[in-house]
Amino acid sequence: MSLDLDDRQRAMLQEMGVRVWLPQAAAPVVLPAAQAVMQPARMAAKPVVASAPEKTASHARITAAETPSALHLRPEGIDGMDWPALQQAVSGCQACKLCADRKNTVFGVGQATTEPRAAPRADWLVVGEAPGENEDRTGEPFVGQAGQLLDNMLKAIGLDRRNKVYIANVIKCRPPGNRNPEPQEVAQCEPYLRRQIELLQPKIILAMGRFAVNSLLQATLPDVHKLPLGKLRGQVHSYQSAGRNVPVIATYHPAYLLRNLPEKAKAWADLCLALDLMRQEAPQNRPAS
Ligand code: URA
Repeated sequence: MSLDLDDRQRAMLQEMGVRVWLPQAAAPVVLPAAQAVMQPARMAAKPVVASAPEKTASHARITAAETPSALHLRPEGIDGMDWPALQQAVSGCQACKLCADRKNTVFGVGQATTEPRAAPRADWLVVGEAPGENEDRTGEPFVGQAGQLLDNMLKAIGLDRRNKVYIANVIKCRPPGNRNPEPQEVAQCEPYLRRQIELLQPKIILAMGRFAVNSLLQATLPDVHKLPLGKLRGQVHSYQSAGRNVPVIATYHPAYLLRNLPEKAKAWADLCLALDLMRQEAPQNRPAS
């Protein structure tokens, strides 16, 4: 594998605390790269940040006592929604108790297109866990310390959150006190991420942390929740979206990396694997088996 780094990228790696090295050999590949369905590169478009949805009467604060538990409160027809409709559905969602305390839903951030109602341009999709306090306040994912590290990681491979990258979370509302999302909350939110992926049509997904990995791989790897992340990383997995296989690289969550600095080198190897995959010749669209 060859990875030409310029001075800026080297500086970024230094900021990440990563010495520049290249993986000796890619770890076993679950999905042969040839099966990873790539799409032709799309034209660059003006960068636009997904703005924090405005609060309207329908999203007005509700108290915990009033929090609906009924599943039917999640909007119907998510599968057929276009991007703005999906964004609107998320901003008004009351399908789990996380809606009671949120300031903002956090839909995602990326590079918008000039085509009306189209999804942002995104070759790369980064999926995290859930908004924290800063994200809840601003309505944008990964804006705290973990976000800074994520930005540095992206810069190290020549990317940024407003250029061909989309960043989203499994969960769109902040779990109080940054606790782990509960299974019911994940189940309620997953259809939004699924539809985001269908509309974004990324060429590759970086699944960061346990929740993203479980959520994205459970369909193709039913035992995923039993496997340590250390065993899932270093491979190319697969996510099926709209009849296509999208390659998935599982890696550590930036917040975990901030607490476990030596693991940054493994995250760097995962980024190199993803970059390598993206540099391979894009195969034609193949139907998912
Ligand atoms: N951690 C996440 O997983 N997502 C965010 O948006 C912020 C922190």
